[in-house]
Amino acid sequence: MLRNLEKIREYVDKSFGSKKPHFERTVYWLLQLKPDADEAMQAAAYGHDIGRAFAPDRLPLYVRGMKIVDPRYVRKHEELSGNKIYEFLISCGAEKKFAMRVKNMVSHHESGGDEESNLIKDADSISYFENNAGIHLGWIEKGIGKVQVREKYDFMLDRITLEKARRIARPFYKKWVRTLNRVRSA
Ligand SMILES: [Fe+2]
Ligand SMILES: [Fe+2]
Repeated sequence: MLRNLEKIREYVDKSFGSKKPHFERTVYWLLQLKPDADEAMQAAAYGHDIGRAFAPDRLPLYVRGMKIVDPRYVRKHEELSGNKIYEFLISCGAEKKFAMRVKNMVSHHESGGDEESNLIKDADSISYFENNAGIHLGWIEKGIGKVQVREKYDFMLDRITLEKARRIARPFYKKWVRTLNRVRSA
């Protein structure tokens, strides 16, 4: 059993108050892209969004016009997530080298930068389209613009590095864009 990965699963599920399919599926897609992805990579895939469990809900800001993909917030989200995962791993006795690797991947899961972080980013994008894209569509009823949702979809597709990941993500993306185009604005 991968001890640190199991601890990360428990920590993430407890922090969010439930099991979110997005995280397990990010691990799944990571393993599709890289079948020998090790424990640190799988832990980063499961825990990449942990900061969201501790950050205030930004939906009201989006309704007032803030972009979902505002680079300043994306950066803050990556940093908070990286710090939280690192603190947690150290607190439960993980080796510093292991915790640093996980932190690096989580701190770059939106922007990428190295091979490992790029893989987490690509797996996150696929799992986003598979599991979470509909959530943003639902926000239109709450007052956010279709343009903002389209920007988020484009961002999640465009940031993908690996051609294999792009091939998997594109049909999901197209489906969501078609659905978005049919939605009436709030
Ligand atoms: Fe994220
Ligand atoms: Fe994510």
